[in-house]
Amino acid sequence: MNDSNERKSLSVLSLFDGISCGRVALDRCGIPVKYYFAYEIEPNAIKISRYNYPEIHQCGDVFAEDFSKYQGINLLIGGSPCTNFSGAKCTKTAKAKKETKPNEGEGWDLFKQYVRALHESQPKYFLYENNYRISLEIQDAISDALGVKPVLIDSQLVSAQRRKRLYWTNIPVSGLPEDKGILVKDVICDDSSLIKEFDDRMRNTLIKCENYIKYDLGGKGHYSQQDRLYYLDNKAPTVPRCRTETKFNVWLGGELYKKTCPLEIERLQTLPDDYTKYGREEDGTIVEVPKTRRFEAIGNGWTVDIISWILGGIKNA
Ligand SMILES: C[S@@+](CC[C@H](N)C(=O)[O-])C[C@H]1O[C@@H](n2cnc3c(N)ncnc32)[C@H](O)[C@@H]1O
Repeated sequence: MNDSNERKSLSVLSLFDGISCGRVALDRCGIPVKYYFAYEIEPNAIKISRYNYPEIHQCGDVFAEDFSKYQGINLLIGGSPCTNFSGAKCTKTAKAKKETKPNEGEGWDLFKQYVRALHESQPKYFLYENNYRISLEIQDAISDALGVKPVLIDSQLVSAQRRKRLYWTNIPVSGLPEDKGILVKDVICDDSSLIKEFDDRMRNTLIKCENYIKYDLGGKGHYSQQDRLYYLDNKAPTVPRCRTETKFNVWLGGELYKKTCPLEIERLQTLPDDYTKYGREEDGTIVEVPKTRRFEAIGNGWTVDIISWILGGIKNA
């Protein structure tokens, strides 16, 4: 790295780091990184991160740290688990709304560690992310704690996936990322073993809807969320954290459809191909990551190109 790059390179504190999508995003927007301190406790996510970025300092549990030691750091990033917000559970049902009490519960405790890190480390820039489905009350409580209002961005602008997320940041960004017009057909991989033919149960119950074809495998008229085929010329649904394998079947035309694989889900999150295929143990041993664990890690992660667009604002600041 030459002198001017050295001067411009960032020290980064990443809470709830997962598979380090934030680190990938910094690479993608061309911001050099001097140090990257990651706080994460999920072993598979840590292995994947360590395989791709062995130089990342893995620091463990957010609750166990005094972040004052990072005082004056350049950038703090993180998105705490939304599933544990009291009453919210990432849903907007009337019951959940009624039960929602900001400022308490496991989700709020996790978020409070981000706020603590913000106060203790006093970074120049920060970015906090969460699901747009958390209740308005919790959104407002987060805005009060961070001192900025969120920006709502749908990942479908930069990928083939619909994924609405809220981003709280003091990085100067304006407008929205440019719409790249990416569709399902652009992320499909070439694997004939994943191509299947309709069976009678599908054939006899198919209904064409605007965003997908649905069918009723259970035969009870439930049309389960996993019994859907997405269109090649449209967008995919939000990548979930679990049972991903059953939730992104694609209609290929006629009586053929395609089951999904981790590579396609990585592409929906604009991760590099096969980013989650391998992990590195603490002793350096390389291991293959089981498919289910890959799906979970990717579904938990960020859409890299959205984060890269936001962090890119640092270069113009
Ligand atoms: C929504 S995911 C964030 C994923 C991340 N942004 C990425 O790029 O992959 C939240 C993460 O917080 C982690 N987490 C939960 N409790 C934690 C704790 N006490 N300390 C550190 N990480 C924690 C989870 O394991 C999970 O990976």
